[in-house]
Amino acid sequence: MARQALRLCEVAGLSGSDSAEYARTLLTVMGPVAERPLDLPPPYASFLSDDHTPLEFSLAFTAGSGPTLRVLLEPGCEAGGLAENGRVGLRAVRAMARRWGFDTVRLDELEDLFFPEHPEGPLALWCALELLPGGVPKVKVYLNPAASGQERSAGTVREALRRLGHGQAFAALPPSDRHLFVALDLGDWNEPRVKVYLVHDDLSARKAAGLSRMTGGPRGGDISRFFRTAAGLDSSDGSDADADGLGPLGGLDARDGLDVPLDRRPGLTCHAFTEAGADLPSGFTLHIPVRDYARHDGEALDRAVTLLRRHGMDPAPLVRALSAVTGRRPEDGVGLIAYLALVHQRGKPTRVTAYISSEAYQVRPPVAVPVPRATEAVPRTTQAVH
Ligand code: TRP
Repeated sequence: MARQALRLCEVAGLSGSDSAEYARTLLTVMGPVAERPLDLPPPYASFLSDDHTPLEFSLAFTAGSGPTLRVLLEPGCEAGGLAENGRVGLRAVRAMARRWGFDTVRLDELEDLFFPEHPEGPLALWCALELLPGGVPKVKVYLNPAASGQERSAGTVREALRRLGHGQAFAALPPSDRHLFVALDLGDWNEPRVKVYLVHDDLSARKAAGLSRMTGGPRGGDISRFFRTAAGLDSSDGSDADADGLGPLGGLDARDGLDVPLDRRPGLTCHAFTEAGADLPSGFTLHIPVRDYARHDGEALDRAVTLLRRHGMDPAPLVRALSAVTGRRPEDGVGLIAYLALVHQRGKPTRVTAYISSEAYQVRPPVAVPVPRATEAVPRTTQAVH
């Protein structure tokens, strides 16, 4: 894990001393699990990654500069149960706050909502570190809206937003099937965000195009194009020839996969709220779980490369990142690239993010038969077999 982190730091252009510092930081935050022999099973069935490694890397790309490395982790992964997991997580975040001199007021204000005595799954607390030059990361915390029960999650999200000064924000969220995370930026951010992650069952490119609620947000056509490419629904040549300047959904039709639902693992959206009182989001992200819609990581990587190029970003660091985390060929498994995401935030350049699994415990074998274009291409008979 530390070795993966060191190599990825190098890919992200961090200096040797920053890289060493961050590798040490990860070991500290993860605690004893970092030393756990990998031939033991994972400490518990963490929801953080498919093979239950309690850590996931990601690279955030923007046009014109190198990618930023981030790492998502579960500090409480060795705790006996979710309540303890959450307490360990809170302690870890507060220790970071002391170490790097930031306050946790916004998190403290929400503690009763997200850390009840008998919390429910699928997580208690995760945190993410953005590993910037200088050795001091930016910190984000991920909380579970279903902690007090799935049926109360909408109320929990509404109340959390209200306490943070976004009284009407809940009403601005688009329709969804579940609330997955509430995330907070802590520490030295110019514009700290509170983000709400939503799950959309059977999401299609056409539906995704209508889910942004940010003012001055992305065009629907850009969202649906990203969706189709990431999910492997592009017209067969995969070229960028159908770049349409035609406004939302211009120039596309159902044959281009606009209505094909993601029916294996849902797509997600994330809505970011910034300055207090702003009840419309200032950010919108679409997350496509590419690993469930590709035969192998070679295919997932090709799509990532296409998307990065389309957005004017250099894909080379992503290719290097994959060989930094694993010795296997991309074709020999699927899941190394967990998600591809398109991020819009007011006042910032567009970002494309690739989430990279550690695969500390397991590699998911490639899918032997071609991945169908979701249900559209599956003959009815195969669906009806009982
Ligand atoms: N493993 C979970 C999932 O696949 C949670 C998760 C991990 C996640 N990394 C993520 C969700 C990145 C969105 C983006 O959903």
